[in-house]
Amino acid sequence: MKAINTIGIVGAGAMGRGIVQIAAQAGLNVRLFDVSADAVTAATQALSKTWETLSQKGKLTPADAQAAFARISPAQALTDLAGCDLVIEAIVERLEVKRALFADLEGIVDAQCILASNTSSLSITAIAAQCKHPERVVGYHFFNPVPLMKVVEVIDGLRSDPAAGDALMDLGRRMGHTAVRARDMPGFIVNHAGRGMNIEGLRVAQEAVAPFDQIDALMRDQAGFRMGPFELLDLTALDVSHPVMESIYRQFYDEPRFRPSPITAVRLAGGLVGRKAGEGFYTYADGKKQVPDEPAVPALQAGLTVWVSPQHGDGHARAVSLIKALGADLAVTAKPPADALIVVTPYGQDVSTAVQSQGLDATRTVGLDTLFGVEGVNRRCIMVSPATGAAWRDAAHALFAKDGVPVSVIEDSPGFVAQRIVAAIVNVASDIAQQKVATPEDIDRAVTLGLGYPAGPLAMGDKLGAATIVEVLRNLLDVTGDPRYRASLWLQRRAQLGLSLLAPSQAG
Ligand code: NAI
Repeated sequence: MKAINTIGIVGAGAMGRGIVQIAAQAGLNVRLFDVSADAVTAATQALSKTWETLSQKGKLTPADAQAAFARISPAQALTDLAGCDLVIEAIVERLEVKRALFADLEGIVDAQCILASNTSSLSITAIAAQCKHPERVVGYHFFNPVPLMKVVEVIDGLRSDPAAGDALMDLGRRMGHTAVRARDMPGFIVNHAGRGMNIEGLRVAQEAVAPFDQIDALMRDQAGFRMGPFELLDLTALDVSHPVMESIYRQFYDEPRFRPSPITAVRLAGGLVGRKAGEGFYTYADGKKQVPDEPAVPALQAGLTVWVSPQHGDGHARAVSLIKALGADLAVTAKPPADALIVVTPYGQDVSTAVQSQGLDATRTVGLDTLFGVEGVNRRCIMVSPATGAAWRDAAHALFAKDGVPVSVIEDSPGFVAQRIVAAIVNVASDIAQQKVATPEDIDRAVTLGLGYPAGPLAMGDKLGAATIVEVLRNLLDVTGDPRYRASLWLQRRAQLGLSLLAPSQAG
């Protein structure tokens, strides 16, 4: 492959100008073309401002900023891209338009030039299909804003020359990004992996398990995410994310794991699309998210005795240790005493199922989520069945909030909130690995950088234990009968064999 020194960018919108910025800063000569000459002017003016700000902040020397600006040349016509070593398109997301552009470009650039598409949802193979030289067409998927989102997916279409992808991997690193490699499958890596949190978060909300803000709080405080699903959806906005949810679902031929939710369809139709509209899952006053107050903590009940079900070994041990630390009376009998609060600690089950399978008194039983730990934590989650009495619910709430830790009280849900959302995230990522869309390492790298998760989903699964994630999913599948909860074979086999979720097959 020829060394890449001069690149053409077609499309001077949000993405195009971001790519121009990192390319020019990395020392590449950049020619920028757009059907709208005004868009090119606006982009170059904006870039000049950006570099001025960066040099004022000391992030770039004034000389480097000037040199970067000098490397950009506006192209008056597409033919000005003749002689480029690489052309990246960041134009409108329509297959016929991208195909027509590449057909035009093939008549302009020389045989060595790589043609890259920044598409986020179209197939690279489909874009390349009508090219005379489909082997030179590769996906090069950046994220918005490009200079800050330091990851790029390099996507090989079915006819792409691997050497062209290798050259884009090198170039990505030269521009200061982490480059990951993906096969041409819907959503590539990041938009595929992102299904886990959003879709399961919406499913939890649709079952009326908890209000949006409590679901988000549980994902932040229990599972360590920077944002919960509804904060994230408000940021990306439903006019962007709802069609993506529908498109990925359809492209996988109605895969139940990706089934979208009528919640977002209705909200999109009503214009409650998110932060930019001032109203989404949250309302925004002067751009500031309005969060409802935490529910009040009921009065502590004197003389409360608590019995913890021994059914789940880990959960039992964690709950018992916490209850002792909180100073409540713990009943250590085989069966719950007649007047005791009953605590169950299931993984992937709801309270109703635990009550029925263990023959417990439903009115006195609550669930406590112990999977993410219950001591030294930022939040606890308790769950009630439709038969749990309000007085017993309040007694449990007061007890588990006694040391000042916020408690979310949710309706019955197999897997509480964080268990099932995290299990969905790990499961979807495992299936991406199973389909060899990317290596396990690249999946974790891409998701950490592209979605801002606290860890890669496969590493997250390893931390909680593959067998534990399988247990959560098996119980979810049992309770709901919904095939979206079937465990990925990647996950299941690694749990069976005691292997890391990051482990590729040993025999290659
Ligand atoms: P944009 O709407 O901000 O900019 C698109 C630009 O392309 C406009 O200036 C338009 O005049 C120009 N254009 C349209 N058709 C053209 C043609 N035939 N020839 C030359 N110029 C043409 O769009 P944005 O957001 O920058 O997206 C561009 C591409 O990047 C799309 O494929 C999109 O799916 C993809 N993408 C967008 C992301 C985002 O968050 N905005 C993230 C990742 C990928």
